[in-house]
Amino acid sequence: MLKVEHLTKKFKSAVAVDDISFTLNQGDIVGLLGPNGAGKSTTIKTIAGLLRKTDGSINIDGYPSTTQEAKKKFTYIPEVPELYDMLTVWEHLQFIGYAYNVTDFEEKAERLIERYDLWDKKDKLAKELSKGMKQKVSICCGLLPEPDLYLFDEPMIGLDPKSIRETKLIFRELSEQQKTVLVSTHLLDSIENLCQRVLVMKNGKIIVDRTMEEMKLQLGNSESVSLEDLFLEVTKDE
Ligand SMILES: Nc1ncnc2c1ncn2[C@@H]1O[C@H](COP(=O)(O)OP(=O)(O)OP(=O)(O)O)[C@@H](O)[C@H]1O
Ligand SMILES: [Mg+2]
Repeated sequence: MLKVEHLTKKFKSAVAVDDISFTLNQGDIVGLLGPNGAGKSTTIKTIAGLLRKTDGSINIDGYPSTTQEAKKKFTYIPEVPELYDMLTVWEHLQFIGYAYNVTDFEEKAERLIERYDLWDKKDKLAKELSKGMKQKVSICCGLLPEPDLYLFDEPMIGLDPKSIRETKLIFRELSEQQKTVLVSTHLLDSIENLCQRVLVMKNGKIIVDRTMEEMKLQLGNSESVSLEDLFLEVTKDE
């Protein structure tokens, strides 16, 4: 579903993503982890086509990521919500509905608004929303087209506990529907029982690409070992 080969992204002389390769098969829910500045957002933005890659190739369902065919296959939920100040919550969803030609738009949009408790905010302008509400609208916009591949950059940031739970539920549903998800996060316990596999980045490189079971085995497979322990172990400086 997603094939990244030798991807490099440089900002002037600084290398933010340094020759990384990985593949996501259909149905994979994969966590993208790494300390601040590791290159997670740059990787996701480059896959989504918001940043131009310096080198390497990105294929989505067999199509180069910059083609129209590829762009129809995924949605991207950014680290910081990018909304239109002068559109209401509902107008955002309408816009996405038209842009992606979403069937049964109204039903799907209402369901999302309901799940994220945005019903009473439906006609509010984006500029009048709180930070967490903006994040919720951004997630709803990303989910609405129901694509095959989802690129989530820190989706839980700013969400209240109920919406975090709802988002986890949605991840589970996406997994059952054999959708493919790449999700970057620092909230390790939020993905601990969700992702089958994790990629850990550090200094622009992928230093770990393992299934959750392999990760746990590595540290003795004790029940008491958390993803947080594993993460701190693999990312610690020598
Ligand atoms: N527009 C930019 N111009 C120059 N350097 C950038 C730019 N965006 C990111 N970088 C640099 O690229 C590196 C990777 O940043 P990136 O945002 O991908 O990290 P991240 O893993 O998403 O971190 P965080 O966990 O803080 O979100 C950092 O060193 C950062 O300073
Ligand atoms: Mg980031």
